[in-house]
Amino acid sequence: MTQCTEVWVDRTNYRDTKVVELSLGEPADGEILVAIEKFGLTANNVSYAISGDAIGYWGYYPTGEEGWGKVPVWSIGRVVASNCVDVAVGERLWGFFPMASHVVLQPGKIAAEHFVDMAAHRQELPALYNGYRRTVAEPEMLTQMENERCLLFPLFITSFVLYDFLVDNEFFGAGQVLIGSASSKTGFGLAKMLHNDPEVSVKVVGLTSERNVAFLEKLGCCDQIVVYGNEHEEIDAHLPAAYVDMSGDVALTTTLHEHLGDNMKNSAMVGASHWQDRGPIGQLPGAKPTFFFAPGQIAKRDEEWGRGMAMAKAMQASVMVAQAIKDDVQVEWVKGAEALIQTWQQLLDNQVPPTRGLMVSLLDEA
Ligand SMILES: NC(=O)c1ccc[n+]([C@@H]2O[C@H](COP(=O)([O-])OP(=O)(O)OC[C@H]3O[C@@H](n4cnc5c(N)ncnc54)[C@H](OP(=O)(O)O)[C@@H]3O)[C@@H](O)[C@H]2O)c1
Repeated sequence: MTQCTEVWVDRTNYRDTKVVELSLGEPADGEILVAIEKFGLTANNVSYAISGDAIGYWGYYPTGEEGWGKVPVWSIGRVVASNCVDVAVGERLWGFFPMASHVVLQPGKIAAEHFVDMAAHRQELPALYNGYRRTVAEPEMLTQMENERCLLFPLFITSFVLYDFLVDNEFFGAGQVLIGSASSKTGFGLAKMLHNDPEVSVKVVGLTSERNVAFLEKLGCCDQIVVYGNEHEEIDAHLPAAYVDMSGDVALTTTLHEHLGDNMKNSAMVGASHWQDRGPIGQLPGAKPTFFFAPGQIAKRDEEWGRGMAMAKAMQASVMVAQAIKDDVQVEWVKGAEALIQTWQQLLDNQVPPTRGLMVSLLDEA
């Protein structure tokens, strides 16, 4: 028997959590038992809880108990028992796991580089999250970036798709890109990619909190940094703009649209790092705020560039940004369920500065 520790979150009150201990037996025919060695924890995981019902994130690892959910996290796992002939004990995997020490998967559609979890309850959910990378088949450089893959890559991949979406649409005619919650990994990843591209001439404007200005300044990827509340005074309303919002702050979106008017040429709703400030968006001047659907842009590029090319480019861009910011975000280890719960509360309460890169393990041996 393997002792498994899980942290569950109340699906309606995210501050309410509980630690659940389970005993897992040997994997059944076709299954593998995976020790979840480490996972990253960012505002994105809070968003998985918030949109758990709407998008289905609670469905990947159901608790079986009404009202409780397991928040998914990007992790590195190690196969510790296998009853699947094609996946060996010792293999390392990268993918979407629960906040837990162990998990059972049912590999199918097995290829050298990846497989799909075939658990029946997952088949109706967005397929993107059912795939697991078998890291042994990957270039050494990637296998050495395990922490970055948990903490940064899932976000920088989105940054790349946003960057590509803007370039592909010629910035919707905008002369400036406004980034909401620019100190988030997804936000500064986008700013870096725009800034690093010599062919991009639009002005990059990062919106952030006063206390995160110094972090953004040090990254050096914004042409202008605007502290929340100063939009009217500091943002040039005469310059057409494209807004990319990681904050989900409805008051901020409203302010920007009212300030820019018809000069708001595109408004992409990406995240909700300011999860307490979400709300319905009414009729606003300028382009209608629209939910950004990354798989749509990836599918378009798969058609144009060939299957898998968009993801390959996104990985490449992620590696570059991860290397560039390695001294700016310090990895901090969170070990054990109680420490995880404390950190989860800090995330909910905006108590985690962008300089702290949270990596978690619930394994006893960690
Ligand atoms: N739709 C997609 O495909 C997709 C993909 C990736 C990420 N996202 C979304 O993008 C957002 C950012 O994710 P991330 O993981 O990159 O974030 P992160 O690095 O953890 O972001 C940290 C920043 O978010 C703001 N923040 C964090 N917690 C907050 C709180 N409780 N209240 C107010 N502000 C808070 C602060 O920035 P400021 O002071 O600068 O606001 C903070 O510096 C998330 O909502 C995520 O779900 C969406």
